[in-house]
Formats: sequence, C-alpha cells, structure tokens
Amino acid sequence: LDLSGLNFNLTEEHLAVQEAARDFAQTELLPGVIERDTAAKFPTEQVRRMGELGFLGMMVSPDYGGGGMDTVSYVIAMEEISKVDASCSVVMSVNNSLVCWGLEAFGTEDQKQKYLTRLAAGEIIGAFCLSEPEAGSDATSQHTTAIDHGDHYILNGTKNWITNGGSAGAYLVMAQTDVEKKHRGINCLIVEKGQAGFVVGKKEDKMGIRASDTHSLMFTDVHVPKENRIGDDGFGFKFAMSTLNGGRIGIAAQALGIAAGAYERALAYAQERQSFGKKIFEHQAIQFKLAEMATKIEAARLLVYKAARLKDEHKDYVQAAAMAKLFASDVAMWATTEAVQIHGGYGYVKEYHVERLMRDAKITQIYEGTSEIQKLVIARELLK
Ligand code: CAA
Ligand code: FAD
Repeated sequence: LDLSGLNFNLTEEHLAVQEAARDFAQTELLPGVIERDTAAKFPTEQVRRMGELGFLGMMVSPDYGGGGMDTVSYVIAMEEISKVDASCSVVMSVNNSLVCWGLEAFGTEDQKQKYLTRLAAGEIIGAFCLSEPEAGSDATSQHTTAIDHGDHYILNGTKNWITNGGSAGAYLVMAQTDVEKKHRGINCLIVEKGQAGFVVGKKEDKMGIRASDTHSLMFTDVHVPKENRIGDDGFGFKFAMSTLNGGRIGIAAQALGIAAGAYERALAYAQERQSFGKKIFEHQAIQFKLAEMATKIEAARLLVYKAARLKDEHKDYVQAAAMAKLFASDVAMWATTEAVQIHGGYGYVKEYHVERLMRDAKITQIYEGTSEIQKLVIARELLK
C-alpha cells in the first residue's frame, strides 16, 4: 500500500481558500449562470473578477504576481467554483494548470516576465493548443508545422477545440518542426492574439460548459520569433505531456465539483419534496442514491487530493492524476444523472441547475485525455 500523498490535514490557509472560493461562487457566479449557459455567453466579467481575486494564477510564485499556493489549495478552489459554474472553472483550469504552470516550469525568464506576470494577474488569459482536427487522443501526429527559419519559425496549420480560443491573449501552440524526429521534433511556441496570419475560427455550439469559448484556430505563415519557443528544440511534446499531467488534476477537481454541486442540490431537494405523504428523502430508494453519491464523491475527493499532494511533494503523480480524472469524471457523469432523477421532472428543466451539471459533467470524460486514454496512461504506469 502506497501511503505517500495521503496526508490531507488541511491548513488554515486551505480552509480560507475554500471559504473565499465558495463565497465567490455563490455570490458572483450563481446569479446569471443559467442565462450564460443558455446564451453561450463568455463570462467576461466573472473571469475578470477571478483574476482580481487571485484565482487565475493560484500556484504561480509571488515573484511573477501569483498566489504562491500549493496544488491542494488549487483543487479546493476548483471544486467550489465547479459546483456552481463549470464554464468558469475550465477557464481557470486551463489558465492555472496548463498555461501558467507550463510557463513557470519550463519558460525562460524573459517569457515569464512578458507573459506569466500578465496571465497570473488575469490581465490576459491563456490557451493551450495541442488538439487538431486529425489529432486528438493521437496527439503525437501533429499536422501543424513550425518550420525553422533561423531566428524565427513559420507556423502553418489548424488547431481544434481550443478552450479560451476567442478570448485568450497568449496561446501555447504545439507544432511539428522536424517530421523525421516524430514526437521529438515537436515544439511549443507562444503566439499572441492578433499576429498576422493568425485567425480565430468559429465558436463551437456545445452540449455543456456552454459559456466557455471553444474555437478552432488557423495559422497561415505566422512568424514566431525563436525566443517564443518553450524549452529546447524538440521539447514541445514532452512539454505538452508534462503539463497535462497537472492539468488532469485540475479537470479531476472540476469533475469532483460538478458531482458535489449536483449532490448538494439533490440532498436539499430530497428534504423538501413530498410524495406519498412524506419527504422523498424518507423513501429508502432515494436515501440509497444519496448514500451512494456521497460515498463515491468522497472516494473521488481522496484521489484528487492524493494526486495534488503528490505533486506538491514533488513525487511522481502521472498515474495518480490519471486515476483521479478517470474516476472523478465517471462519478460526475453518474452523480449528476442521479441528481436529475432525484429531482424528477423538475430536474429536467433549467431552473433547478442539475440538468446543466449533467451536461457539463460529460466533457470531463473527454478533454485533457479521454477516459480511454487515462486507462492507457494508468496501464503503462502499472508496468513501470
Ligand atoms: N508525462 C510525461 N511524458 C509523457 C507522458 C506523460 N504522462 N505520456 C507520454 N509521455 C512522453 C513519453 O515519455 C514519450 O517521450 P520519449 O519518447 O521522449 O520518452 C512521448 O511522450 C511519447 O509517448 P508515447 O510513446 O507513449 O506516445 P503514444 O503516442 O503511444 O501515446 C498518449 C501518447 C499518452 C496517448 C498521448 O498522446 C496523450 O496523452 N493523448 C491525449 C492527448 C490529450 O490529453 N489532449 C488534451 C488536449 S488539452 C485539453 O483537452 C484542454 C482542455 O480541454 C481544457
Ligand atoms: P479521438 O481521439 O478521435 O477519439 C474518439 C474515441 O476513440 C474516444 O472515445 C477515444 O477515447 C477513443 N480512442 C482513441 N484512441 C484510442 C486508443 N488508443 N485506445 C482506446 N480508445 C481510443 N484540446 C486542446 O488541445 N486544447 C484545449 O483547450 C481543448 N479544449 C477542449 C474543449 C472542449 C469542449 C472539447 C470538446 C475538446 C477540447 N480539446 C482541447 C480537445 C480534447 O482534448 C480532445 O477532444 C480529446 O483529447 C479527444 O480527441 P478527439 O476528439 O480527436 O477524439
């Protein structure tokens, strides 16, 4: 039994983060969340407030204007915000764990001064651009090219499904420089919005997380200076995978929050709604659903906290992150479906929130590596 990462004693600071995130979600995200979902309206004002409150650069060092907090604080905040608004929490997750973390871990001092400080403060938000029309799970088969022209690269190709695609200021773009070297010939380049040849494509009309903006991106002969490459030549795929290991903890925490949000609503509803002369909570069938939901959500929380702790303790967290995401996303899909069931017909309409949570849950089994890919990652680790 591997007990590393299992010390969950929360500090005063963790509890303060939890309270701040819960308060922010309830007072500033809950009003309007249904309308933003229905209209697929990007939460511009809410994201600006997340920046002001320090939720967009939580783990970034104070040297670059971040909160200097640990991963446990981050997952605690992600859970609370995702209970209410998973569209906002995906903006938060991408900015914190993919873009800021990646830049801080592997960027140059100049890149950090130029981009990380603004990303951590929420002055701009970031996007992480790996997926392509023909390369999702099979991420090594990049068709976007970054051809070396001495002091700059020329970028050509299309990225697909990019979160924050229309609203980001800085984009981390993976592209193939040397085909012969396969994944070891991929680079990650920082591209700015508005660069000549960079066009943001149509916004996707999605099932869930509808207020987040997901776009395809087109690059035609975009000149990217070499100082915008992250890491050594050919480091781009390793960069993407290393960054995604932490990203998966963020999405696992998002899934956990979606599940917990649905559970809290179902528990409250079961104590109000009456049928056959008693509260529906008093029907054992409903009690059992809630008991099972509470149990699975607690198990998911333990996996999420364990992965976060391992990361904070600088131990290997590849498998723990994949396990947390695999399990928490399944719990989210299942628990939100049960929450709709507990609400009966009321669960099927927007006013009661649980139908949105059910639609939002589905994406957690797909992005940052599908559930099948998490199993593949876990299985490979079993053989190490
Ligand atoms: N951590 C660090 N390095 C890793 C890694 C990990 N988890 N997984 C693979 N690598 C490295 C390997 O070590 C290898 O490098 P070397 O050859 O230099 O040792 C290299 O990556 C290639 O690995 P494989 O040979 O295992 O490649 P593969 O093609 O067989 O499988 C994969 C790779 C695990 C399936 C990978 O392609 C993958 O994770 N696919 C899913 C992609 C994904 O998660 N996309 C998310 C996009 S971002 C997003 O979705 C954001 C959002 O929604 C909000
Ligand atoms: P495919 O890879 O075509 O997979 C199709 C099916 O086949 C899946 O069930 C998959 O699990 C299965 N499958 C594929 N290969 C295997 C295998 N080897 N073994 C078993 N099963 C397999 N990407 C980014 O880069 N940045 C983003 O910000 C981003 N945001 C996103 C936001 C949204 C709303 C969505 C929908 C996607 C986003 N993505 C983003 C892309 C996302 O990561 C991919 O959709 C995901 O990795 C799956 O790739 P795919 O869609 O090409 O599916």
